[in-house]
Amino acid sequence: MKDLFAKIYKDKGPLGKWASQAEGYFVFPKLEGEISNRMKFQGKDVITWSINDYLGLANNPEVRKVDAEAAAAYGSAYPMGARMMSGHTDLHEQLQNELAEFVGKEASYLLNFGYQGMVSTVDALVSKDDIIVYDVDSHACIIDGVRLHMGKRFTFKHNDIESLEKNLERATKMAEQTGGGILVISEGVFGMRGEQGKLKEIVALKKKYNFRLFVDDAHGFGTLGATGAGAGQEQGVQDEIDVYFATFAKSMASTGAFIAADKEIIDYLKYNLRSQMFAKSLQMQLVVGALKRLDMLRTMPELKQNLWKIVNALQSGLKERGFDIGSTQSCVTPVYLKGSIPEAMALVKDLRENHGIFCSIVVYPVIPKGLILLRMIPTASHTLQDVEETLEAFSAIRTRLEDGTYKRVSAKLMELMGE
Ligand SMILES: Cc1ncc(COP(=O)(O)O)c(C=O)c1O
Repeated sequence: MKDLFAKIYKDKGPLGKWASQAEGYFVFPKLEGEISNRMKFQGKDVITWSINDYLGLANNPEVRKVDAEAAAAYGSAYPMGARMMSGHTDLHEQLQNELAEFVGKEASYLLNFGYQGMVSTVDALVSKDDIIVYDVDSHACIIDGVRLHMGKRFTFKHNDIESLEKNLERATKMAEQTGGGILVISEGVFGMRGEQGKLKEIVALKKKYNFRLFVDDAHGFGTLGATGAGAGQEQGVQDEIDVYFATFAKSMASTGAFIAADKEIIDYLKYNLRSQMFAKSLQMQLVVGALKRLDMLRTMPELKQNLWKIVNALQSGLKERGFDIGSTQSCVTPVYLKGSIPEAMALVKDLRENHGIFCSIVVYPVIPKGLILLRMIPTASHTLQDVEETLEAFSAIRTRLEDGTYKRVSAKLMELMGE
């Protein structure tokens, strides 16, 4: 019989196999200093384009003060226990009420982490007779939620309404046999490439098919829509989203998350979300911090304006210089280049070491072979000077990519990797 660990010793997995070349630099890098537009990486100043602090709240002095005072008042233990048992407070309730109002829903419920909360919400919304229809490019937390489902599930091609409709037809036939209902899941903004989910078109299908819509709006909350209520508001269909999800990990620059829906649905979920029933309540310092951040989202529209000033300058600057930024419709700014993985590594090294630009790099198997995706997250704390320096750097690295410099530099790496 095999040792359980035998496969682990042999194969580190699709990402883990790069560990010896990548760890500490391309993955698990250590960014140091205050969270802001400029931080330190391996002792060098870099412009940071890989932190989801959209509204620049992470290091806002008022936010830091409230966080510190809440930590002093409550410590990190309070309240002890799960919400249902001993971890419920007035402030949790207040935050839920304010969040519900902000996103235009009757009620909301706090989640101690977005990821587990999403998994659990998918799990709680469906029973074995129900059918899930979800976008094939969904975030891992949606996929994990779907994995828990004991009944049928169908994927539809990414943001492809024709494919969704085909699968809704199949799901409808099946639901007629099982006696269940249909849950459609999409995202407000797809975080890798930045396209918005086609919520308006999805909602229009409700006229023809009987389904409920669950939207993960992690990247849309605080960044899209007239008041920052997200992608549903931006597309004029917030009311038609049956269950809305957002995390505090992006625009709110914190930890925690929430779902919002009709009161009766939230009342059901709060008694059925296993990740909340059997886990410790969101810490009070995070609840107090979230109340402060939400107040700033509501009362300081300039935060979102500043963010979009940077987004627009960066995205239009890249386009003017002929870069391919795909079909983003959000702050997420992808730059697609052609090259091998070793070339991508040499290019990112050049960006960091010689140009002081830190951004995330995404390669195969996350995107097709031969493509390099540099993913940038603009924030309200960036400046137009940051954008200008970055555009200059990008032009320089493109020249070196095209004239074969990185191919030569990376030849040694390629040898090492046996490419
Ligand atoms: C689309 C999406 N959903 C859910 C999550 C998980 O949220 P959290 O970080 O609060 O666990 C993330 C990442 O933060 C995300 O990008």
